[in-house]
Amino acid sequence: MNFRAASRVRVTAGKLHSMSSAFVIAWALLLLFSPGLAAQRPAVSGPGAASANPLDSPDLEKKVNELLAKMTLQDKIGQLVQYSAGQATGPSSGRTDDRDMIRKGQVGSLFNVTGSRETNALQHIAVENSRLHIPLIFGLDVIHGFRTTFPIPLGLAATWDPEIVEKASRIAAEEASASGVRWTFSPMVDIARDSRWGRISEGAGEDPYLGSVVARAYVRGYQGEHLDSPDSIVACAKHYVGYGAAEGGRDYNTTEISEHTLRQFYLPPFRAAEEAGAGTFMSAFNSLNGIPASANPFTLKQILKKEWGFKGFVVSDWTSVSELMAHGIAIDGATAARKALLAGVDMDMQSNLYHKNMFELVQSSQVREADIDEAVRRILRVKFAMGLFDHPYTDESREATAMLRPESIALAKTAGTRSLVLLRNEPVSGSPLLPLSASFSSIALIGPLADDAGNMIGSWGGLGRGQDAVSLRKALTQRLGDSRVRYAKGTDLLNGSDSDIAAAVRMAQVSDVAILALGENAGEMTGEAAARSWIGLPGRQQELLEKVVATGKPVVLILFSGRPLTLPWAFEHVPAALAAWFPGLEAGHALTDVLFGDTAPTGRLPLSWPRAVGQEPLYYNALNTGRPEADPAHPGEPGEKKFLSRYIDIANSPQFPFGYGLTYTSFSYGATQAVARQISFANLQRAFAENSDTSILSVSTEVKNTGSRAGEALAQLYIRLDGTSIAMPVRMLKGFQRLTLAPGESRKVTFGLDAKTLAFWGADNKFGVEPARLTVWIAPNSSEGQGTTLDISAE
Ligand code: BGC
Repeated sequence: MNFRAASRVRVTAGKLHSMSSAFVIAWALLLLFSPGLAAQRPAVSGPGAASANPLDSPDLEKKVNELLAKMTLQDKIGQLVQYSAGQATGPSSGRTDDRDMIRKGQVGSLFNVTGSRETNALQHIAVENSRLHIPLIFGLDVIHGFRTTFPIPLGLAATWDPEIVEKASRIAAEEASASGVRWTFSPMVDIARDSRWGRISEGAGEDPYLGSVVARAYVRGYQGEHLDSPDSIVACAKHYVGYGAAEGGRDYNTTEISEHTLRQFYLPPFRAAEEAGAGTFMSAFNSLNGIPASANPFTLKQILKKEWGFKGFVVSDWTSVSELMAHGIAIDGATAARKALLAGVDMDMQSNLYHKNMFELVQSSQVREADIDEAVRRILRVKFAMGLFDHPYTDESREATAMLRPESIALAKTAGTRSLVLLRNEPVSGSPLLPLSASFSSIALIGPLADDAGNMIGSWGGLGRGQDAVSLRKALTQRLGDSRVRYAKGTDLLNGSDSDIAAAVRMAQVSDVAILALGENAGEMTGEAAARSWIGLPGRQQELLEKVVATGKPVVLILFSGRPLTLPWAFEHVPAALAAWFPGLEAGHALTDVLFGDTAPTGRLPLSWPRAVGQEPLYYNALNTGRPEADPAHPGEPGEKKFLSRYIDIANSPQFPFGYGLTYTSFSYGATQAVARQISFANLQRAFAENSDTSILSVSTEVKNTGSRAGEALAQLYIRLDGTSIAMPVRMLKGFQRLTLAPGESRKVTFGLDAKTLAFWGADNKFGVEPARLTVWIAPNSSEGQGTTLDISAE
């Protein structure tokens, strides 16, 4: 196995109740008065908001310039070079070893090295033995935890809870920094609309608003209140940009995204990360409209650095600079290096091409030294802002106590619980199957993922270890004792035997209820380079499921996966189904708490769950088309449906819509009410020009708990604009609020819409407001709710 694969730890192998009420109120107020927290907001305010941009200070510039003035061209190029530790050597690289390179000032950053002793040893060489004593910055993919593993990012997004994301990232930062890692290649803020793409598991799903809320939370958590604090790590917003739009969902594939779609949908979470102060960005692998993202001056220089004023640095993705040759825009390494640098890629991850070619490129005037200076300035700015020059070393005593603290594990459990999305919960003998009744005296626990702690970690598990994770079997047995839990694997993930399936079926037959833990292998089937063309249950798992259901015993299906799985049969025949993603270290405890009703499920889908893979790419915020599928409420005559934008063999609608998720009670949403029947366009335009956060329209509805148990509703605010210069999506999420309601209780929920909430990228390719017909819904998900329509009128 090569070091890279090993180092990446590809594992094969709560709730709001914990929020302080002050925070809940503050957050609700924030959303109430300014739901337009999403894209294009110039500054972030509110709980935990990053303070003034740590990369923007005259003092910092002075230090950077003073150091730059002492640097030779060779010193400067060294800062632009990054390697995975121990992997710079090799026949073609011409490099010797990490230590030698550090001593010679030929490397600015190493990654995939952890441990305070190991990183300190390397740092000592940089600080004490290199000519200018410039510290290294150590990076790692700390994606959803370091040692304490939280749910995979898609699961974290399913919490719709930025406070959990922020706290989890803070714990990740504390653990990683104690191990000498001060830079994470996270958050991945790629919008993804296609569940075939394995990396859909690494992001926050399909929506720019939710994606932006989550992006800010990650950055705040990683970078903390003070970037120069020894327990803060620098965030890296990746993969800039468009990577999630890979054609056919095939990883690394080409993307074609119009500038409008890029700005309206794909850029906002990056913008949000930048506004929250993310110190670094990673340029992506994909080509975007023919230009590889790692050589794209329009996205890197024009948008990121010029329009947004980003002060930090851009690192390439792994060898994405040398891949410019495979893309076909460079026939040699020198050209690849030149194109990447001039486009705005400041640091070369792993290609060895800046090291090899940059000196000669400057000597031959193909690259100006000023261009190199600009890149070096950005890298030094981040290093100074992190306090690396003042405290380059990690306090080694921290490492022993920083990992797996009880409060970190408690948060992993809360996050795990809140990431679970209840997809289905049908009555069995008169009442919903979940939570499981205490009258079930024996449980058959079946499936390849029931006793698999390793897979609970998910892909990109950092230093998370399967042995620290709690499997469902372990937690269930802890809770009920051996005598009540019978376990049979039934089948492996990919292979199974008739006899094992038969044994599991027999076990179900003699038990009161069956819990099936099915899904994907986290390491092989989700994450990077794990695109699937068919997204059902692998191996013989579907067969196992059908045979267990055929016993007539009630079945709870728990799906562990990095993406939605197309299981129309299951969603018709299985009474209860939970999307568990990969819940992290506390998987088993989180699940048993929900299964037995200690906690109700509160997760909501951060993406549209397809019925069939042929529907992909599938996303709720799509355009209406000129021939929308007939309104299901008015299907018309069969012949009338022919010439519509629809499939002849399946509905357009998803199996479960974006924003969907059940809980252990039910809610009704009244009709959305707006305080005005009309908005004056002149007023709207003025508010937009003044960049005002003031609400210009207040909308509300009554949400009622119609069940017999207290529960948490997630009221979602959606809008639609018609009559605009450019076709707008059928719905766009613009806010959400949580409400805890006692049985029978009803409460009014109100959102204020500000000018930015109603602004969009128009046909003139400018972000602005237009006269329009506005429809607003306050709804439990993206396909329900009773909207209200009013005019943004020019009169
Ligand atoms: C991935 C990045 C990751 C990098 C460093 C690449 O293959 O695309 O997401 O941060 O490797 O490990």
